[in-house]
Amino acid sequence: MDKISVEGGVSLNGTVSVSGAKNSALPILFSTLLASGKHILGNVPKLKDIDSTRELLEALNCRTSVNGHTVTIEADEADNQEAHYDLVRKMRASVLCLGPLLSRYGIARVSLPGGCAIGARPINLHLEALEKMGAQIEIKEGYVEARCSKLKGTSIMFDTVTVTGTENIMMAATLAEGTTVLENAAKEPEIVDLAEYLIKMGAKITGHGTSVITIKGVSQLKASSFDIMPDRIEAGTLLIAGAITGGEVTVEGFNPVLIDALIQKMIESGFKIQTLHGKTQGVKVSSPKIWTGIDITTAPYPGFATDLQAQFMALMCVAQGTSIITETIFENRFMHVQELMRLGADITPKTRTAVVRGKPGGLVGAPVMATDLRASACLVLAGLVSQGSTLISRIYHLDRGYEDLEGKLRSLGARIQRVP
Ligand code: EPZ
Repeated sequence: MDKISVEGGVSLNGTVSVSGAKNSALPILFSTLLASGKHILGNVPKLKDIDSTRELLEALNCRTSVNGHTVTIEADEADNQEAHYDLVRKMRASVLCLGPLLSRYGIARVSLPGGCAIGARPINLHLEALEKMGAQIEIKEGYVEARCSKLKGTSIMFDTVTVTGTENIMMAATLAEGTTVLENAAKEPEIVDLAEYLIKMGAKITGHGTSVITIKGVSQLKASSFDIMPDRIEAGTLLIAGAITGGEVTVEGFNPVLIDALIQKMIESGFKIQTLHGKTQGVKVSSPKIWTGIDITTAPYPGFATDLQAQFMALMCVAQGTSIITETIFENRFMHVQELMRLGADITPKTRTAVVRGKPGGLVGAPVMATDLRASACLVLAGLVSQGSTLISRIYHLDRGYEDLEGKLRSLGARIQRVP
């Protein structure tokens, strides 16, 4: 089982580019189930979750191939519409095959995803919406069994903003009869990216990126080609890496607007931020000697991204003063707190709020364990600023969502390597 060893105390400097967005690539890969023909997707990040998705698509009788960051998928008549537990439990985003299979074939059998470290993460909103569109849905032996001769467009109000829920139903609605209106829809940039590819395939979608999305059903979609958007969460993670080590780092290849909530909070904490527009977009961070502890509350886009909460907590562990971190999206997304405390962080976790008493230069390296994807990134960032060395185990979590993070950090001067 691989581990990552980080030597603290080096300030990072230089320029680094982000890879394609995991949370855009995944739904777009599943959207290929909607249309036969050859889909050519560029800027796809090299991640475990992408491999798992290809494995699942191949189990659904698609043919896939990878050449560098380009993935080609042919989704002709799938003679199997079952997404097996072994595949779904590895990656909950597999639930995104439900909408496309049901919409194109009128039948789908998808394993329930099961629990996850950061929360129960039920899929009730996905299922209720599909039932409203006319699907008969049963839960049998841990599987969702869904049937429908033809999904019917209707209006759907999501009780909670759900990213993959919005994506699943938006995909299902593209081939439904009539018009579907999604209200209280997620506004994440990855939803916009997915909608743009669906439109390229011939779907009729408006309102994507706002909380009301309208989809007019069409009879057929056609495979096309598309480049995945840059990963705003990786960009935020790399920016915090520059900040936490007191360095000067430029992260390029993405639109700074997409992490504006993080940028505003870093400025409030005392960091100098320059946003770069024009040919090369990106953000440059210059760190003060000491930065101030500030409060954050996670929220759906454009609020502060829950996927950056753990990374920002690491930054607050070595700030001057107290920071109150409130997690409103998931009920158990503080798994990184215990591990940060092993490095000497002073944190008091409650259900949805953690109080961090910052200690500039106060972390000391130790063996720690990754518990989920963003917690792994948080521990790497904390290791960069801890005295001595930090050994992070279970870094298979990290490989699910970051392409060569240690290589990117090494290019900025970090002393970090993978050890068997
Ligand atoms: C997506 O997960 C992302 N994953 C997550 O990123 C991200 O943290 C999350 O959105 C929030 O932004 C992908 O896009 C593949 P939700 P998703 O449905 O869609 C509740 C990462 O690190 N809910 O928006 O599963 C749910 O329990 C991952 O890259 C229901 O109650 O999240 C949660 O509390 C982690 N019923 C809240 O809504 C439902 O049917 C938001 O979840 C669906 C969701």
